[in-house]
Amino acid sequence: MSYNPEIPRDRYNNYGDREWTRLEKDGHGELLYRVHLEILSRHIKANDKVLEIGAGSGRYTKDIVQFCKSLTVADISEHQIEFNKAKMKELSLFNYIESYHVLDILDMGVFPDSSFDCIVCIGGVINYLLDKEKDGVAEMLRILKPGGIMVVGAMSFIGASLYYLDGIRYEKDQFGIEATRWIFDTGVQDEEHYPVPSKHYVHMMRSNQMDDLFNQFPVKIIERSSAGLFTQAGDAALENARNDKDFWELIVEKEIQFTKLPGTLDCGMNIIYVVQKN
Ligand SMILES: C[S@@+](CC[C@H](N)C(=O)[O-])C[C@H]1O[C@@H](n2cnc3c(N)ncnc32)[C@H](O)[C@@H]1O
Repeated sequence: MSYNPEIPRDRYNNYGDREWTRLEKDGHGELLYRVHLEILSRHIKANDKVLEIGAGSGRYTKDIVQFCKSLTVADISEHQIEFNKAKMKELSLFNYIESYHVLDILDMGVFPDSSFDCIVCIGGVINYLLDKEKDGVAEMLRILKPGGIMVVGAMSFIGASLYYLDGIRYEKDQFGIEATRWIFDTGVQDEEHYPVPSKHYVHMMRSNQMDDLFNQFPVKIIERSSAGLFTQAGDAALENARNDKDFWELIVEKEIQFTKLPGTLDCGMNIIYVVQKN
């Protein structure tokens, strides 16, 4: 199946405030947030001109804007951009945002070549691109300065299959064992092979696929991380942990540490790559 921009646009135009609440409503969201934030805080420099693409409602916008000199915010969804603006106004951060753009990552012609020191693309934009993944990376690299940094986060297939195993078994009864083999082999949930009623058509990534994607470009991979590793403990264990304050702080500390180990890279719910343009 080829990339269809209507899929992410429709989904996120009809998302209400779920994008804003998803990173704080439960332990899983908080783990994702804390891991991403720690990575962003190390790689974004005070003098950087940054683009956040696929910014959504602004959970990270509010932090990134305080790490850098200038932040440009973009998303394919008009609703998410309007929501992001409203949140930044509420937080008195709106005036610090350079500009907002409703655009597709595949067409960022409004930005000249080598415009940014850093591009943040986290939370799964590249999962929606399917056959256009390479074009998305190429477009980001075009507008990134040489030596600039790109932080790219994606939904992880292996992590998702561990967490949602029973759901996959249920879907096997709907779509058949060959479709199940397909999703395990490729991570691609699409209309032809794995037609989920939600139409959430995505390519969930494995780390070797992320490596293959970036290895086609003149870049150096400088960091790899998972995120949402302790999510695999299950919702109940995670909520019990979160209700135990000092235990939870220790778990968050260990989540940040363990997600950097090569052996855990595919086991979290997300995979994050930090890549430097040559
Ligand atoms: C799961 S949300 C993540 C939001 C935020 N980055 C985060 O991590 O919390 C994915 C966002 O990517 C946007 N998006 C999806 N495909 C896109 C594309 N092709 N170009 C630009 N934005 C896209 C969606 O509209 C949505 O706001």
